[in-house]
Amino acid sequence: MGTKRARRPARAVGIDIGGTGMKAAVADLTTGELVTDRVRIPTPKGGRPKDMGPVVGRLIAMLGDEARDLPVGVGFPGPVVAGRIRSAANLDAGWTEIDGAAFLAEHAGRPVALGNDADVAGLAEMRFGAGAGLRGTVLMLTLGTGIGSALFVDGRLVPNTELGHMIVGRHEAEARASASAREREGLSWSKWAKRVARCVNAYQALLWPDLVILGGGVSKRAHDWLPHLEADVRVPLRIATLENRAGVVGAAVLAGEA
Ligand code: BGC
Repeated sequence: MGTKRARRPARAVGIDIGGTGMKAAVADLTTGELVTDRVRIPTPKGGRPKDMGPVVGRLIAMLGDEARDLPVGVGFPGPVVAGRIRSAANLDAGWTEIDGAAFLAEHAGRPVALGNDADVAGLAEMRFGAGAGLRGTVLMLTLGTGIGSALFVDGRLVPNTELGHMIVGRHEAEARASASAREREGLSWSKWAKRVARCVNAYQALLWPDLVILGGGVSKRAHDWLPHLEADVRVPLRIATLENRAGVVGAAVLAGEA
């Protein structure tokens, strides 16, 4: 084995595993742009590994020749420590404590770099989006099926913060303030923003970030809720700029660095 590090790939496949959809694209690692369409397959009902694993293979196949021989990165909605999935709150319990990287590699037909979904979305925002070039303490929150968190200190990720599971008031943050909680309970944007504010304030009281970046599907509708949220928090806020690309781009970044 040589001691020189292999040259970083210019492109990689990024796969974003979510509670409702599984998405993939090839990303350019220099610009953060997608070089293929973003393909999506709904997450199989029940969220079981045996049903979801093959979807990873199908997504890669859908990307066609562009994906051939490229490294693959996957963002998973649970904490991932050295390739091992430690919990999966919004999927089947069968994911817990499996070697997720090895399992997914079998379906991908090549090695897989595996990370937490919010962590990889944060990597993308810190490199190409709302957090580009920022130092200090930056907290990224993804508001989706759950609440994901990614903490950066001077641009370096502190992996697997699980702030969506923090008890805020009497409830788990994501049970009340995720985007899916808003839909489930039919909350107005302003009512929901109050709940999000309570969580952001609780996080601020413990971490005192310089900035909070807000991402997830709802970032497209920020004009509906950001003013309400800003009225109730003291920390500077920014909306994620990569929108629904952050998950796949970040997963590709992870693959490129593995
Ligand atoms: C999981 C996190 C994940 C978040 C967003 C939470 O339920 O525990 O790991 O980042 O949902 O998907």
